[in-house]
Amino acid sequence: MTDFKSKTVPVSGFSRRDFLRGSSAAAAATALQAGTAEGQDQASPVISGATKITLEINGTAREVTVEPRTTLLDVLRYQLDLTGAKPVSMDGSSGASTVLVDGKPLSASNTLALTVRGKKIQTVESLGGDNPDPVVTSFVAHDAQQCGFCTPGFVMAVRAFLNKHPRATEEQIRNGLNGNICRCGTYANIIQAAIAVAKGA
Ligand code: FES
Repeated sequence: MTDFKSKTVPVSGFSRRDFLRGSSAAAAATALQAGTAEGQDQASPVISGATKITLEINGTAREVTVEPRTTLLDVLRYQLDLTGAKPVSMDGSSGASTVLVDGKPLSASNTLALTVRGKKIQTVESLGGDNPDPVVTSFVAHDAQQCGFCTPGFVMAVRAFLNKHPRATEEQIRNGLNGNICRCGTYANIIQAAIAVAKGA
């Protein structure tokens, strides 16, 4: 069995801690924004109730209606019908709702929609279509899924990691993907799929 979780070598990419820290920072920013008058400024007005905002998702401007509490995952799944990101763990610990925001992986389930205005949001749907991303085709070729609930999050995590480390080693990949969990235990195939892309397959 692959010893995916027991490695303690230095993290070279996005660790679980980095991943959760990024999402928590985004949530904290909005909490501050929606709090006292001291947190207000002209560029960041306090918003209450349902409000129309525009988000840039997969290269397209999309108008959505959000409340301060609305998560990015809610917007994607229930307003835009982009159901790739999964609501597996609402605290983001599974990584199943991973999307890229300005190129960095974030958990959409604990990122508030208001905090990603003006940022480039990329979902797993952007990697499919007639000319799928090599990460997608490699996951298929290596049979890197069982139930598939974790798969979109892993695909996005692999894409983000290889964008930053295009020729990553197996050890780097193992550490770079430690913000995502596969309950079916398909880690060996997922790692092999990522390695194949790093090797130019
Ligand atoms: S394939 Fe089932 S959780 Fe990963």
